Order: sequence, then structure tokens, then C-alpha cells
Amino acid sequence: MSDRVPLIPSAPDTPACGPPRLDDGGFWSVTRHADVRAVLTDPCFRVPEAAPGAPGSLAWLRGTVARFSGPDRHPARRAAAVAALAGCEPDGLRRDAARLTAEELDRVGGRLAVSPRLARGVPLRVLAARLGLADPAAAVPAVTVVAAAYQPGAGPVAVRRADRAVAALVAMHPPGSPEVVANRIGLLVQACDATAGLIGAAARYALAAPPSVPTAALLAEVLRLDPPVRGTRRVAVRAARVGGQPVAPGAELVLCFDAANRDPTVVTAPDRFAPGRSVLTFGAGPHGCPGERHALALATGVVDGLRERWSTTVTRPDHEPPALPRVPTDLKVMPR
Ligand code: HEM
Repeated sequence: MSDRVPLIPSAPDTPACGPPRLDDGGFWSVTRHADVRAVLTDPCFRVPEAAPGAPGSLAWLRGTVARFSGPDRHPARRAAAVAALAGCEPDGLRRDAARLTAEELDRVGGRLAVSPRLARGVPLRVLAARLGLADPAAAVPAVTVVAAAYQPGAGPVAVRRADRAVAALVAMHPPGSPEVVANRIGLLVQACDATAGLIGAAARYALAAPPSVPTAALLAEVLRLDPPVRGTRRVAVRAARVGGQPVAPGAELVLCFDAANRDPTVVTAPDRFAPGRSVLTFGAGPHGCPGERHALALATGVVDGLRERWSTTVTRPDHEPPALPRVPTDLKVMPR
């Protein structure tokens, strides 16, 4: 298979794989596969926690979702997210995504921008419908605005827009306890940019690959080689060691999935297209992504639909800021 598909290049700025390094910014950069996995599964390291916020605001959402919860609150919140995913069976998601993709392609007829219309719009509409939101199409821009301010460090304008978008999503959502509603909306926000990034990158390679290369194989290798989520962060809660290095309490760590997925001690010939190798892009441990099968089903529905009827990409995409996650912009495709 390796001779018949284009090489998937490293994401730009992928760090080299090596022992943990204390970077100029004062955080540890962790790049080896075994070190990243060890940190993700070691209770000495926690996700940066979000403080509580006013009901219905962005701060409320961040302060109530599993993603930014410490070990005391995390299990119940994650259980709420996992329970909601039980109503989103992957085969059904794939079929719905394929149907909406076909409708989009019929509707536009000519050139199509993959990122906004398909990569974000289709998965979010499918998921929002499954989660019972009153207006799945209106949920797409609202979720996109929230996703842009979801990670720490968003500016005040982005936060104000996200506050309004969270309120709109809560109003569209069926009534429920705050923890349940927040974690169901959290699924949409988590899915938004990561799944769009996967679809955008996969479309780039899929439309140039022979039809005999299965979409699942392309998605697997895009996740490894050009991951839509390039890494994540942890904070040390007590003195610990990572890859033999002493790490002080309170130290911040950046775990680089992009580098770890190419670790030559785990993946032989890391540049070769050979699906089925170990990939850390969905994380691991207690916070590991519960939506992996759902993301793959949604992406398969969209990318299969594109491969069936559309051909070459007509632009080489850049990526939207920020670098985590990586969502291609301006990727346009044409009908065959
Ligand atoms: C290609 C698409 C996706 C990628 C690469 C991805 C990756 C990740 C990663 C790396 C984490 C863990 C972050 C950490 O430990 O710091 C995570 C968490 C999470 N993801 Fe995904 N994700 C994707 C799609 C989805 C989808 C489609 C859903 C839901 C339908 C989802 C729901 C979640 C949730 C709820 C969490 C938080 C889990 C927790 O903290 O317990 N993700 N994802």
C-alpha cells in the first residue's frame, strides 16, 4: 500500500522525539511515546482545572465539563458524556454524515470549501440532532464560536461571543441537570475542531489516493502523521519523574502527540504509510477521548462521500490559528 499513496508529511513544527526538555517558556516538552503515555496515565499529573462560572456562561461550561475537571469531579462528569454518546451509535453517525455530505455536494454543484461546509458543518449537525438540540443547523455556528474560546487564554471579545453562544446552545438543548447539559454540549465542542481537522487533512490526501486505499487506512495514518490535535497539557501535583527527569510540583507539561506518534522506538520507519501503528492522538488514561469511534465514523461518512463523487483539491490549505487543534482553511474540491 505504501507505494500507492502520497507521503503524508509531518505537521509543520513537529518537535523531534527525545528526552523531556525544559523549554524557554518554563514548561516541559514531552515527546517520546512512552513518556507521553506515562504522564497521561499517572495521577501525579492532572489536567489544568477550570474554575466555576456564572450559569449558562462559557466559564460555567468549562467549569462543569469532564475535560477540565480534577479527579474528584471527573468520574461523574465523564459518565454524563459517555451516557450521551451511548445514544450516538457510530454506524448511524456514519450513515447520517454520508447522507448530509451527499446533500451538500448536490446543493453546491461546483467548487466546495471543505472546512466550513463539510468538515465542521456535517459532523456537528449529525451530533446535535442525535443529542436532541432543537435546531442542529443553528448549533453549528454557536459550537464553532464556543470551540474558539474553549481552551485557556481566549481574549475578552472571543469570551463574550462564546458566552452568548453557550446561552444559545443551552436554550436549544432539552432540559436536564446543569452537569448533564454541560457535558452534552461539551461533546459538541470537543468534536468541533478536532473532527474538522481530521476531515480537512484526510480530504487532502484521500482525493489524491487510489480508490483501493480504504478511507479507514487514510484516517488512521492522518491521525498519526498529521494529527488534528497535536498535543495536550498537564500539571504536576507533586514532585515526580518523567523519562528520568525530575519534575517539580506545579510544573507544566506539554505532551506532544505529533512527535510521539513518530517515535522510532515504537513505530518502525515512522514516515512510511502503514496503518495500524500505535497512535496517541486520542490521548490515553482517565481523560482519553471517549468519542474516538464517533469521530472516525463521522469522518468516514464525510470522506467516503467526497471520494465517491469529488476529485482533486484545488488549493493547498493553510491552517487556522491556533495550532491546537489544526483545522485546514480554504481547502476547495471539485466534482469529477
Ligand atoms: C479526530 C477527532 C478527535 C480527536 C483527535 C480527539 C482527541 C481528544 C483528546 C486527545 C482528548 C484528551 C485530552 C486530554 O487528555 O487532555 C479528548 C478528550 C475528549 N474528547 Fe475527543 N477527540 C476527537 C473527537 C471527539 C468527538 C467526536 C467527541 C464526541 C462526540 C469527543 C469527545 C471528547 C470528550 C468529551 C473529551 C473529554 C474527556 C475527559 O476529559 O474525560 N472527541 N479528545
